[in-house]
Amino acid sequence: MLTAQENETLTRVEGDAPMGRLMRRHWIPAALSEQLAEPDGKPIRLTLLGEKLVAFRDSEGRLGVLGEFCPHRKASLAFGRNEDCGLRCLYHGWKFDVEGNVIDMPSEPRESGFAERVKHKAYPVREAGGFVWTYMGDPALMPDFEPPPWAPTPDTRIAIMRVDLPCNWAQIMEGQIDSAHSSSLHSSDMKPARGEAQALETHWVRPSTDKNPRIQVQVTNYGMRYAAIRRPITQAATHDYVRITTYVAPFIALIPPNASYNVASVIVPKDDTSSYFHFIAWNDKGGGIETEAWRRFCVMQVGVDLDEDFRPIKRFAHNDYLQDRAAMKDGNFTGIPGIPNQDIAMWESMGAISDRTSERLGASDIAVIQFRRILLDAVARHEAGAEPIGLSAPHLPLVQLASYQGVVPKTEDWRKLGASADEVAVLDGLEEDATEREMSQAV
Ligand code: FES
Ligand SMILES: [Fe+2]
Repeated sequence: MLTAQENETLTRVEGDAPMGRLMRRHWIPAALSEQLAEPDGKPIRLTLLGEKLVAFRDSEGRLGVLGEFCPHRKASLAFGRNEDCGLRCLYHGWKFDVEGNVIDMPSEPRESGFAERVKHKAYPVREAGGFVWTYMGDPALMPDFEPPPWAPTPDTRIAIMRVDLPCNWAQIMEGQIDSAHSSSLHSSDMKPARGEAQALETHWVRPSTDKNPRIQVQVTNYGMRYAAIRRPITQAATHDYVRITTYVAPFIALIPPNASYNVASVIVPKDDTSSYFHFIAWNDKGGGIETEAWRRFCVMQVGVDLDEDFRPIKRFAHNDYLQDRAAMKDGNFTGIPGIPNQDIAMWESMGAISDRTSERLGASDIAVIQFRRILLDAVARHEAGAEPIGLSAPHLPLVQLASYQGVVPKTEDWRKLGASADEVAVLDGLEEDATEREMSQAV
């Protein structure tokens, strides 16, 4: 449970909101590369942290992220002509390069020098791991860009699903660090079976029937790792089934993998009440899954479930996501196809911004509680002038961070599983491990 003020701090990102200010210190995974694949292709509208933007790829392949509204008289540049190394406003023809310079101003006398005196808002851009990233913070404080965990090598096979959702980012992120829900909400898509956890064509399997995981949290300097510990189907007397999720503040959660691919979620706030949700499958060791197959598995295909801007066209709150009650009577747990659609029904049903002041949290919510504490603490420290979470030393390269799942002897310390030797050394050196404190305070 949070106070109303804490809930505001956690969720609000627009304007001068402290959480938005913190997020502006990070590179933001703003759009998919495929949305901007073609030089001189269609510009796209983006909303990030409450700001309306337009992104385009110029004739030479350079990417630009500019303010959506022309500095002249505020017409939308999303209608603009993208040609000859710039985006031209349709209204009076002002033309901008990827850095926001005005490179043509046909409506003014050339000798006026007016074009040189106007500079349009433009944010730095990078491209990696299937995403276009932008940095919206103070240029003097821009961190080095580094590839994300799902792009450890340039030829890693990456499949990404994106969807534009009308609810606040934090309740979506809380869904990523809530292992207990998968045993209910996703029970028809994540079935228990002996053997290793793997992705089949129609569902995932995992070696446990236990719906009541024990949750343990390890606070890190980039966010946290937490383990959901379940009774395995075999060797239950001596072994645990351990699923570790790694939260990399503020936008990324690395979900436990399976034998076929690794899984990550990326949540980017558009504004206070809407978000881009991404679900990623990747494999750098061979195997993996193709983008179309991944989107079909997620029931999130462009042209079928989503329009070309990744907005739902079929399942919405107002039609109950086409929930099929007959299928439920036949044994399907939710009557809603696709893991993300099941989550979306829950996230959106909580309201545009979930009211955390009157919840009844239990022992299975310990990771969610810790997530909130970590972020509220990170915001307070950033407001007080400290380095932002995830950017302070010692900094671990993002590609070293990983999740984990496996059946392991009970004697094993889960904190060492799925963590590189560098990470173990860094985390051992951090003085505070809040796990025990949280365990006692949570319920
Ligand atoms: S409003 Fe864009 S050129 Fe006039
Ligand atoms: Fe889920």
